Amino acid sequence: ACSDGGAESADAGSEDSITLGFAQVGSESEWRTANTDNIKAAAEAAGVTLQFSDAQQKQENQIKAIRSFIASDVDVISFCPIVETGWDTVLQEAKDAGIPVVLVDRGVTADPSLYVTHIFADALKEGANAFNWVDEYMTAEGKTPRAGGDQFQVAILEGTVGSSVAADRLQGFNDAMAESPNSGKYNVICSQTGEYTRAKGMEVMESFLKSDGDKIDILFSCNGDMALGAIQAIEAAGLKPGEDIVIVSIDAAKGEFNAMIEGKMNCAVEHTPNFGETLMETAKKIVAGEEVPATIELEEGIFPADIAEQELPNRTY
Ligand code: AHR
Repeated sequence: ACSDGGAESADAGSEDSITLGFAQVGSESEWRTANTDNIKAAAEAAGVTLQFSDAQQKQENQIKAIRSFIASDVDVISFCPIVETGWDTVLQEAKDAGIPVVLVDRGVTADPSLYVTHIFADALKEGANAFNWVDEYMTAEGKTPRAGGDQFQVAILEGTVGSSVAADRLQGFNDAMAESPNSGKYNVICSQTGEYTRAKGMEVMESFLKSDGDKIDILFSCNGDMALGAIQAIEAAGLKPGEDIVIVSIDAAKGEFNAMIEGKMNCAVEHTPNFGETLMETAKKIVAGEEVPATIELEEGIFPADIAEQELPNRTY
C-alpha cells in the first residue's frame, strides 16, 4: 500500500485486461485488511489490472487517488468512501472524463447519477439485527439489570464519524430498540465513537466503565475490533465480558469468533468483506457495455456464540 493517495499497480498482463483503480479507506480493522486482500486476490483471479491506493483514513487522500486514476485513464474507478459527504466534485470529474465509478461498502450523499452502481450491505439491517438478537437473548436468558431497577443499561461504541455505515448501524439499532415491545426495558447510558479501531475501542470502553462500570449490562460495538478492545478494558476492570456485560458486534471476523469461543462475546452480526469477485465481474460488465443494477446488495448472517466453534472453520476472514 502507498501513502498519500499514491497508487501501486499490479499488471495482470493479459491483453484484453481492464484496469481498475481502487481507493481503499485504510487498514483500521481486521475486516478492512481482509477486504483489501479479497480485492487484490479477486483482481488477480479475474485478470484485472489493479491500481490500488490506501488513503490512510483521509478523505483528501482518497480524492487525490481518484484524480490520479482519472489522469491515468483507468477503465473503472472504485472506492469505499471514508465519509458520506464531499464527493460531488471529484465524482463529476470522473463522469466528465467518461470513467464509470462503482461504490463499495459505504455510501455517499452525492447524486446517484454520478456513479454506476453501489455494492453494499444494509447497515440499517445490521444494527436492527444486533438489537433484535440482544432483545431476544436477554429474555431467553432471564437476565436482570445488574444495578437493579427495571432497565438494562446499554453502552454503544460507534464507528467512524461521518461514515454511512456508522450512522446507519447506530440508527438501525436505536430504531429497532424504539420499535421493540420491550423498548421500555432499555436505556442507552453511553454512546461514543471508537473510530472502528481496537485501541480506541479499549480507550472509550475504559471511560464508559469509569463512569458506569457498575451499571452497563449490554455493549453494542459497531465493529469487531472495537469489541475486542472493549473486552480487554472490561477484563481489566474486573468484570466478565460476555457474562456481566452482554456483547454484540458487527463484522463477524475471526477475532470475534475466537472471543465468542472463549465465552467473552455473545453474538457477531455479519458484514462481509468478500465482494472482490462481484466488483471485478461488475467492472468487466460495465466496460463491456452491459447493464448492471443501480445497487447490488450482499447477503449476511448472524452468528451467536453457541455456533461459533462449529462455524469458525467456514470463516474466510
Ligand atoms: O465500512 C465497514 C466497516 O469499516 C467495518 O465494519 C469495520 O470493521 C471497518 O473498519
